[in-house]
Amino acid sequence: MVEEEKKQVTGYLLFSLATAVIGSLQFGYNTGVINAPEQKLRAFFNNTWMERYAEPIKPGTCTIVWSLSVAIFSVGGMVGSFSVGVMADRFGRKLSMFLVNILAVFGGLLMGFSTICSSYEMVIAGRLVIGLFCGLFTGLTPMYVGELSPTPLRGAFGTLHQLGVVIGILVAQIFGLESLLGSDKLWPLLLALTVIPAVLQCILLPFCPESPRFLLINQNKEEQARKALVRLRGTEDVSKDMQEMKEESSKMAMEKKVTILELFRTAAYRQPLLIAVMLHLSQQLSGINAVFYYSTGIFESAGVTQPIYATIGAGAVNTVFTVVSLFLVERVGRRTLHLVGLAGMAISALLMTIALLLVGVSFYWLSFNITDMSLITGYSSLSYLSIGAVFLFVAMFEMGPGPIPWFIVAELFSQGPRPAAIAVAGCCNWTANFLVGVSFPKLEELCGPYVFIIFMILLIFFFIFTFIKVPETKGKTFDEIAREFGGAPPPPTTSVEAPPTSSSVTLPASPIKEKV
Ligand code: GLC
Repeated sequence: MVEEEKKQVTGYLLFSLATAVIGSLQFGYNTGVINAPEQKLRAFFNNTWMERYAEPIKPGTCTIVWSLSVAIFSVGGMVGSFSVGVMADRFGRKLSMFLVNILAVFGGLLMGFSTICSSYEMVIAGRLVIGLFCGLFTGLTPMYVGELSPTPLRGAFGTLHQLGVVIGILVAQIFGLESLLGSDKLWPLLLALTVIPAVLQCILLPFCPESPRFLLINQNKEEQARKALVRLRGTEDVSKDMQEMKEESSKMAMEKKVTILELFRTAAYRQPLLIAVMLHLSQQLSGINAVFYYSTGIFESAGVTQPIYATIGAGAVNTVFTVVSLFLVERVGRRTLHLVGLAGMAISALLMTIALLLVGVSFYWLSFNITDMSLITGYSSLSYLSIGAVFLFVAMFEMGPGPIPWFIVAELFSQGPRPAAIAVAGCCNWTANFLVGVSFPKLEELCGPYVFIIFMILLIFFFIFTFIKVPETKGKTFDEIAREFGGAPPPPTTSVEAPPTSSSVTLPASPIKEKV
């Protein structure tokens, strides 16, 4: 780290970022938590049904209640992420995060008390509320982190959101073990545990600053913005940051708040919006959540004897490679890492297909020759191939497609359109997440071992798109990026049709402006 960067990283900044990242942890935890206790939840649905109607629940009905409990989380996420812009502009970043935690407490308690109240409806309602909560945080955390971080480290700090997510998933996988909280009795506690980080964050948030950028640009509170910056940067001399923000503020007076409608209607935002949405789609349509939602089943069909541990292994690989990306992103750049990740995932998808196919063939032969040792050894080494392929898939995801989309939107847009852009991109992410989640079991049924070929094709498509369309934001001046987005910056204007582009005005929030 160069001396300048070191000075900008204070304990107070790290504390504020860590507090915000509790929201990311919550998103990860609630994504991963529902997997392990599937059978317990199904048994609970059945018991409740028996109590009410004195007959066992039909398997079809049970599956519907179960799928609803899983999928309604993403529906809540879609609505939550879409509302993020309105909330962040109305209440500010900090108060929004504080208020959103009420949802976590409410949702957690609904799920936690579901068995006591003999109500599976409370599980479903709880998952919906928790989805809303997580949807809001997938926008709020990257926004707050992006607005607080010093320019040269915005990518590395931006990756912290994803690091929070992956740690959350890993914790959920471990706590979900039968010997811990994934047992018959304790699963409601496993689902309700989300209340604790919510309360913790509410205790810590009052000690964090409001985003200086929000204070100055949205609220015109110059003195407060300066004070916040002085504490965050650990130096009285924050004139450079202040100057940048003021320039942005004056140039963007006309686009202070950009609504979602204006975002779509404004020609100048089209290109960055397309890139933001496609990067988010590439994250979800890569098939990553097919692994995180269904890995245990995938490992089982690949002949792995202890699938739950392979799943936890995938969670661990996930965490390690997010850290790798954190250290690489300011050196190698966003575009390159995203391309490497997509290509690596496509190769792993192919490897997974080969492993699943070979397992199928050897299983067929094994069923005729159950005593043939060479077949048995071959069969088990194939299961290692499948574990290796899944681990590689996950590792490559975390190199780029995992962390980058979450923070690049905050970089591509300036203060005015940022909340709306984050809302649109986040909502696309959650919608695609939902689609993969609900359709994967059916796709697997239809395509068998070829199912990952679908993701491979999508990955190749997104690779080509990224290669052609996505500019490298690292190490480039702002004007260079503006040119890549289609020409010289237009002069500031009051018209909605052609306001200053996010890429045509000073973008202090972006790493683009300074050489990184
Ligand atoms: C990203 C995705 C999320 C996924 C996770 C896996 O944060 O948005 O859906 O589960 O990565 O690490």
